[in-house]
Amino acid sequence: MLSDAAREKIQALKAKYPNARSAVMPALYLAQQEYGWLPQEAIAAVANELDMTATEVGSVASFYTMYHLKPVGQHVLEFCTDLPCALAGADAAFERLREKLGLEHGQETTSDNKITLRHAPCLGGCDQVPVLLLDNSAQYESMTDEKLDALTSKLRAG
Ligand code: FES
Repeated sequence: MLSDAAREKIQALKAKYPNARSAVMPALYLAQQEYGWLPQEAIAAVANELDMTATEVGSVASFYTMYHLKPVGQHVLEFCTDLPCALAGADAAFERLREKLGLEHGQETTSDNKITLRHAPCLGGCDQVPVLLLDNSAQYESMTDEKLDALTSKLRAG
C-alpha cells in the first residue's frame, strides 16, 4: 500500500500533465522508492491512482530497465554488456566482477543483499568501456578492475 505522502505526490504529478496517465513513469519511481522494487501490489496501487489498468502500468514498468520487477540489493549496478561494449571487453570485466562479488550465474544480488549486478543495454558511453550505472543516478566509465573493486568495496562498507 502506498503511503499517504506518495499518493499525494502522485495526485500532484497528475495535475502537471494534460493527460493524467502521463504521470505513470514518475509515479512508478515513487512506488519503487516506497517498496524498494515494484511488486504487483505497487503496480496495482499506481494503476489505481492514475485510473489505468495494472496491465497498462505493468507494461510500462517492464519496458524500462530502471524499474525493478523483483527485489534488489541496497545498490544496483547496471553494467553495459551491449554489443559495442562487449566487443571492447565488457563481458570479461562483468564476469570478473560477478565472480568477485560471489555471484553464481543467474544470481543478481549478493548474499549480504548489498549489491545487485545486472547486464544493461547501451548507457551511451560506448567509447569509455567498461561503463556502468549506479542506482539509476551515477554513471561510471573506463572502469578498471581496480576501480571496480574500490567501488564495490565502498558500496559494501556503506
Ligand atoms: Fe555500452 Fe554503449 S554499448 S555504453
